[in-house]
Order: sequence, then C-alpha cells, then structure tokens
Amino acid sequence: MKKNNYKTILSIETSCDETAIAILKCSGELNSPWPGRPAGGPNFEILANEVSSQIKIHRPFGGVVPNLAKREHIKNLPILLKKVFKNLQSPIDYIAVTVGPGLEPALWTGINFAQDLAKKLKKPLIGVNHMEGHLFAFLLKSENLQFSKPNLQKSQRSKISFPAIGLVVSGGHTIIIKMQSLTKWKKLGETVDDAAGEAFDKVAKMLELPYPGGPEIEKLAKQGSPKAIDFPRPMLNQKNYNFSFSGLKTSVLYYLKKHKSNKKAFKSDVAASFQRSVVDVLTKKAIRSAMEFKAKSIVLCGGVACNKTLRETIKKNAEENDLKFIAPEFKFNTDNAAMIGVAAYINLLSKKRTYKIEADSNLNL
Ligand code: KG4
Ligand code: ZN
Repeated sequence: MKKNNYKTILSIETSCDETAIAILKCSGELNSPWPGRPAGGPNFEILANEVSSQIKIHRPFGGVVPNLAKREHIKNLPILLKKVFKNLQSPIDYIAVTVGPGLEPALWTGINFAQDLAKKLKKPLIGVNHMEGHLFAFLLKSENLQFSKPNLQKSQRSKISFPAIGLVVSGGHTIIIKMQSLTKWKKLGETVDDAAGEAFDKVAKMLELPYPGGPEIEKLAKQGSPKAIDFPRPMLNQKNYNFSFSGLKTSVLYYLKKHKSNKKAFKSDVAASFQRSVVDVLTKKAIRSAMEFKAKSIVLCGGVACNKTLRETIKKNAEENDLKFIAPEFKFNTDNAAMIGVAAYINLLSKKRTYKIEADSNLNL
C-alpha cells in the first residue's frame, strides 16, 4: 500500500447485543518511515460511529437472548447504515465485518448484511476477529500510536513501546497476550472457565442487580469496603497466565446463602470485595507477565476495562514498574464498529491474517 494513501473502511459489528456501524478514514503504515526510529503507526479518522445498544431489550431476561439479538440487528442495521452515509464525502474502499467470536445467529446477520452491501458497492469484504478489534481499539486515540518524527521530543514519540502485554477482558473472554508488534503476538493465557465480565454479570444477578452487571457492581462497590470479605484470588499463585473466575463466583454464592441479608451495606461490601478479588488477579498476572517478558507497555481493553478500579489499579502498578499504560477511550472498550475497522486496516497492512467470511462463534485469537 502506498504512503499517504487513504483507505475508507465501513465496518459492521453484530457479535452480541450492540448493533454498530462505523466509517474510518485509515492512513499510515505499520513501520516508521524514519530509519532508526521506533515503529510509528497507522492513523484513524472517525467519519461516522453509530452504536445501537439492545440492553433494555435483554434486561428483563437477565442476559442476552440470541434470537432477540438477531431480530434487533436485522431491524437496526439499515437504520444505522442510513445514518453513517448521511453527509459522507469519501467513497468507501472496503467493507469489514465481525465473523467471530460471538453469538452465531447475531454474527450471521452482520455477515449477510455486509455481503449484500459489498456486492452493491462492488467493494472487497474483510472478515474481522472481534477480539482483535478490542485489542486494537486503543489506536483510535491518535496520541497512543503515531509516527515518531525525528524532530519530536522523546516524550512526544510513539506512546506504546513494544514488547507490550495485552489484557483483553470482556463479557466472553479474558486473555493475556504478548505483543512484539501490532502484527506479531502470541496468547500467553486465558480463562479456563468464566470470563471476568461474565463473573461480574453473574455476581450482579445474585445481588439482584440488572444486566449488564459490571457497571452495577462498580457503582455498588463504591459504597462498600473491598477488605470486608476475603474472597479467593483464583490461580493467583500458579505459574501460568490462565484465569478462573467460576470458583470465585461460587464463593460469593455460598457467602450470600450463609449470611442472607438484603441490607445495602452488606451487598456493597460483597460487591467491593468481589471486585477487589477480580482486580487483584488481573493486575498481578498482567504485571507478572510484563516482568517475565520484559515488556514496556500494558494494553488494557474490552468491556471490563471500563471499570475504573481495574483501570486505576493496573495503571498505578504499571507505572510503578516503569511500564506505559495504554487503554482505549471508555466508549471504545465496549462493543463498537470503529474497533472492527481498525483491526481490518491492520490486517490489510500486514497481509498476514485473513478470516473466512462465515460466522465462527468460537473464533480464536
Ligand atoms: O467487550 P464487551 O462490550 O462485550 C463482549 O465482547 O463481551 O464486554 C461486556 C462486558 C459485560 O460483561 C459487562 O458487565 C462488562 O463488560 N463491563 C464491566 C463494566 N462495564 C462493562 N465490568 C466491570 N465494570 C464495568 N464498569
Ligand atoms: Zn466485545
């Protein structure tokens, strides 16, 4: 791809309960044009970014109902498409769509819609891994990764330094990755049972809080003490980078059964202590892996990265260990299509990774 050549990507995300379409103007290369300087990176201008959340529809069921999600995506996609095309000046070069992981019926609605659009506009279609979208969402903040012009002060040069540790914490996944660059990375570990977000959602349900539980637990935890209850820190001392949150969830369940209380102060303490346990495990494993692999940065992303206690704890610990802390803007942590456009552009530049245009609910990172 030629330098300074803009590519306009229209991206579609329907893997779970958010219908989203974005249009990004993408430019830049993977490597620095200035020899001897750290690798810079691509730049993204957001021309449109529409997200339609289905939370209210799924809330009465306490979680996402796949067929309801499908119905809503089918209804929302044409509405969002109209919105993103309004006032658009640039022609579209590529269509990108999430092909997995996610709920299969939901994924197919996005894929079918993208296929029709690609045919109509006569443009190539790029399949995107949803988790790569989360991992690269930080690139939407231009100061996180820019070309490092030789005349810039050190502090103004590209913010991320490699190797980096990526911690992806979402509703369906908890993954720790070692990144050598934007295109070369390896999974170090992941959850062996529930994902961190899933544990937040399930504990919230036990506390009779609405779906999605993460933000509700965070709110309630503010009024409680994180030291009130000593919940387990699963797999903290194991010498691997896997996680397990199912046992922690069960401990909370037993605690609630034993103590039976509806008092707000009691529930706040449970929320704060549970949150502290999850934050402790995620932080310690991320920092430990960064030390082992001599990483220079930690990238925190995925829906659970919206949690301020998690964000602040990892940031503090990273900075104490001379690591740069990188995270997307809050609105790009939860599901959106802009991050799908970013991942599509990175794969377009690297030419290494391509995905089949078919729904794969268990697609691996
Ligand atoms: O990344 P995401 O939007 O969707 C998936 O790909 O799964 O993540 C959604 C998850 C939900 O489990 C939600 O409860 C959790 O992220 N979440 C949070 C917070 N905001 C969202 N968890 C803890 N604290 C939050 N503030
Ligand atoms: Zn997600």
